[in-house]
Amino acid sequence: MSDAFPALPADFVFGAATAAYQIEGAHDEDGRGPSIWDTYCREPGRIEGGATGDVACDHYHRYREDVALLKELGVDSYRFSIAWPRVQPTGTGPANQRGLDFYDRLTDELLAAGISPAATLYHWDLPQALEDRGGWRVRETAQRFAEYAALVAARLGDRIPRWITLNEPFCAAFLGYATGRHAPGAREGRGALAAAHQLLVGHGLAVRALRAAGVAEVGITLNPDRLLPATDSVADREAVRRAETLHNETWLDPLFAGRYPRGEAEAWGPMADGSWREEGGLELIGAPLDFLGINYYRPITLTAAPHRDPDPVTRTATDIRVAECARDDVRHTTMGWPVDPPTFTDLLTDLTARYPALPPLLITENGSAEADTVSPDGRVHDTDRIDYLRDHLTAVADAIRAGVDVRGYYVWSLLDNFEWARGYGRRFGLIRVDYPTQQRIPKDSYHWYRDLIAAHHHDRTRHHISTAQHTGEQAAR
Ligand code: FCB
Repeated sequence: MSDAFPALPADFVFGAATAAYQIEGAHDEDGRGPSIWDTYCREPGRIEGGATGDVACDHYHRYREDVALLKELGVDSYRFSIAWPRVQPTGTGPANQRGLDFYDRLTDELLAAGISPAATLYHWDLPQALEDRGGWRVRETAQRFAEYAALVAARLGDRIPRWITLNEPFCAAFLGYATGRHAPGAREGRGALAAAHQLLVGHGLAVRALRAAGVAEVGITLNPDRLLPATDSVADREAVRRAETLHNETWLDPLFAGRYPRGEAEAWGPMADGSWREEGGLELIGAPLDFLGINYYRPITLTAAPHRDPDPVTRTATDIRVAECARDDVRHTTMGWPVDPPTFTDLLTDLTARYPALPPLLITENGSAEADTVSPDGRVHDTDRIDYLRDHLTAVADAIRAGVDVRGYYVWSLLDNFEWARGYGRRFGLIRVDYPTQQRIPKDSYHWYRDLIAAHHHDRTRHHISTAQHTGEQAAR
């Protein structure tokens, strides 16, 4: 591994990312209604340590301090999410202006700091009232999502240039409605497949609403997986095929290839009868986008396995006869995720080859959870995280050299935060959060990323590089 900064194009966007429920806290302030995560966290045994997002990083009250840290970091852009239940406490009706006021203040603070805001409309915090009426299994939620998108864009569309409809619908649908590891904690077959579809319909309807509001850029964030067979056997390769349908093609095919995945019958059997789909769905879902957001953390190695549930009626949508295999040839983060950066390059080049109609890519999340500690010198020497980030940025640079159109990269995450089912025990931040005091301590990775961005900006100014004419290698000289 080299100590040099990876070579990236002159106009490459450097950013950092967070999500509302993971950092904001203030769960019942200024009229915010309950979301499915508030409910889920209160169910015994769901979250490690019984944690909730009630306080989290208290960002709702400390956003000025956090924006100052972003400014010092030097990022071009900041990706955050808007909490639907702040804007519409029950998921319907007029906007709760006090909820929108928070994002208005945050947006203005970012702009004053010279940071371009990138807003995600749905990072998993569905208003509980909509879940009570069927949640993402039903079309009504998709329609409500578009109404919510219109309300937010009417208030903030003039100042926020970049809009992401959904974050990782794979997790919302399959962890939320099939494995039950995320809110609302359902374990279903058809219901989860219907949720996958209605999330995409909601995305399509929200794209229309955002376009009507005249915002600059619209995209969606997916978490396509790099899936590897454990062996070269036919059975393992077929297992990977089924997982390609579940993890990747369910999203990418309707969004970028104008079709539903071809492998549905093989993956799901009779469960995949498509009964929840309607005329015109594909056209709606496939509306042109300005970018595709990619979240990537690790590859997944799979082997063929029997069904976990022999009963096809109660079987969940993730029961597609695959099992994940542990690897012993690479380091693992504290999430238990293998660190294998070249697979990131492979994923990006492969996606570009498979989907000719793909829009430009933005890496909207990448980062690692490490066993950080505060040293006696008061600092956090997170060299594993620096290595992870450098090697993954290098993988992105390699993909760009191979012809992939990647426009930017957001580190997950700005701050240590509430890591969903894992609670507060997994730290992804460039900045450590001491939860009892809410003190922020920039880690060594923060300083490393700041230096990288500064070096890049310096080169950009020095060479007066015009984006169109220069490649990544030239920019790095
Ligand atoms: C992604 C989520 C993000 C964060 C990271 C670690 O799946 O989008 O909120 O939890 O994983």
